[in-house]
Amino acid sequence: MIVEPNGTIGILGGGQLGRMLATAAAELGLKTHILCPDEEAPAYDAASAHTVAGYLDEHALAAFAKAVDVVTYEFENVPVEAVEFLTNCGVAVRPGAKALENAQDRLVEKEFANSIGADTAAFHAVDNLASLKAGLDRIGGPAILKTRRLGYDGKGQTRITAEDRDLSASYDKAIEFAWKEVGAAPSILEGFVPFACEISIIGARGADADFKMYDPAENVHKGGILKTSSVPANVSRATVDKARKVTRDMLEALDYVGVIGVEFFVLENGDVIVNEYAPRVHNSGHWTQDGCVVSQFEQHIRAVAGWPLGDPARHSNAVMENLIGDEANQWRLLASEPQCAVHLYGKREARPGRKMGHATRITPKS
Ligand SMILES: Nc1ncnc2c1ncn2[C@@H]1O[C@H](COP(=O)(O)OP(=O)(O)O)[C@@H](O)[C@H]1O
Ligand SMILES: [Mg+2]
Repeated sequence: MIVEPNGTIGILGGGQLGRMLATAAAELGLKTHILCPDEEAPAYDAASAHTVAGYLDEHALAAFAKAVDVVTYEFENVPVEAVEFLTNCGVAVRPGAKALENAQDRLVEKEFANSIGADTAAFHAVDNLASLKAGLDRIGGPAILKTRRLGYDGKGQTRITAEDRDLSASYDKAIEFAWKEVGAAPSILEGFVPFACEISIIGARGADADFKMYDPAENVHKGGILKTSSVPANVSRATVDKARKVTRDMLEALDYVGVIGVEFFVLENGDVIVNEYAPRVHNSGHWTQDGCVVSQFEQHIRAVAGWPLGDPARHSNAVMENLIGDEANQWRLLASEPQCAVHLYGKREARPGRKMGHATRITPKS
């Protein structure tokens, strides 16, 4: 199925990723229609149409299915039922329900990564204090407890340090505290990976099963939130090849159509460990807007519209910096900086930790 110019891409979710997808679609002569529960959402400004409705509102979903030629999503917590309902309405949803389902649950996601031969941190399913203790005994060392569902930007996770474990008097308290921190929700305990750095691969698979991958970005997080993504990443060719192979195997196993973002930990010896994947365009791929001829947003639109994938080659080095909370107040300064592209998401309120925009600094390719 191919969506020709003037056709309409339906997007579930109205955040900044939807906004940038809608902008990229417009550049290709395609229209977009956003479905999102929020009265106000960053994507509405850039889209041709929007529907304010819950993701499980069947009446709204049926009308949406009729109004668009294909559906995609910009948010991985769209209920799988919504994707199944739309598919039953006869509209293609790309990527499909399986990619979404795996990514929504950290336990299923890790099992999936292992099933295609990719390494992950040691992990243990946690449903109560007893399984948390058993997991700590099995994994040993410092560990991270994360909710299986709905975590993002470091939310829904807490660390259990080696010191917590050594002080046996307070060990039980530390465990109880950690369990409370994740809201006593079904969780996963992960061994702490002593990574040398973090990278991500933005990959794409077309409706014709073609593959394209961008150069990996090296990512630095602050307080659990992505702060910068830099290309080129300071890793060996062998590491890039390993990460690319995992990304490609994932796309293949999921019979994927669209852009995927896969996050990796890189060990001192150059091996890669899968952290998580996002079945959508990814924050660590925003540099492609200014560093490549075809951005990750255009690439995703091309894939879901059944167009040929674009060339992911990079024409510059780039450092993308997220503007979080009131950092976006610096827009005037950034706008006057040479070789700096400013992207703002049109959010009214700059709450702490909220992604308000990003700035990408470009230098000659090395
Ligand atoms: N098992 C781990 N070992 C070491 N660092 C980790 C581990 N899990 C998460 N982190 C750190 O926390 C960041 C956010 O965790 P992540 O699982 O990617 O959650 P989110 O969904 O919030 O992005 C990671 O990018 C990494 O810096
Ligand atoms: Mg992450």
